[in-house]
Amino acid sequence: MEIRVFRQDDFEEVITLWERCDLLRPWNDPEMDIERKLNHDADLFLVAEVGGEVVGSLMGGYDGHRGSAYYLGVHPEFRGRGIANALLSRLEKKLIARGCPKIQIMVREENDLVIGMYERLEYEQQDVILLGKRLIEDQEY
Ligand SMILES: CC(C)(COP(=O)(O)OP(=O)(O)OC[C@H]1O[C@@H](n2cnc3c(N)ncnc32)[C@H](O)[C@@H]1OP(=O)(O)O)[C@@H](O)C(=O)NCCC(=O)NCCS
Repeated sequence: MEIRVFRQDDFEEVITLWERCDLLRPWNDPEMDIERKLNHDADLFLVAEVGGEVVGSLMGGYDGHRGSAYYLGVHPEFRGRGIANALLSRLEKKLIARGCPKIQIMVREENDLVIGMYERLEYEQQDVILLGKRLIEDQEY
């Protein structure tokens, strides 16, 4: 298994992976999301490759104050082998190398498996309310 930075030719495979991982949401256009990422800290967009196939993804970011991670997904047939942990660990190292002091991650409240995973990785639940405002409407996916 290799963790590496996303390449342009991963485009279709990554979107298919997100579909399989149920990471697509009607309000996010995945192609636009990838295009935007490629214009902003593209080297924090990581994939996991096994035998030439993209089986995992993690879209990291750093805004100069906090680090972030979106689109964590591992192909169902490759789960439970530490691929998500490896993606997160690589992102954390890259963020530390940039001097990023803290990473924050949004997880749906009902996603117990993922919350447990993050807690084992020493992520703590924060007492905040997440507020969001859409600034650009993407096309319905
Ligand atoms: C969450 C997800 C990325 C985990 O990927 P993964 O490669 O299987 O995770 P890992 O093998 O690195 O395991 C991470 C931890 O989760 C646990 N875990 C993983 N799959 C599990 C499963 N099916 N059942 C129970 N525990 C599981 C592992 O025991 C591990 O815990 P540990 O590090 O304490 O041993 C994967 O299940 C997935 O893509 N889910 C759908 C998309 C999603 O919910 N993404 C998160 C959005 S915030």
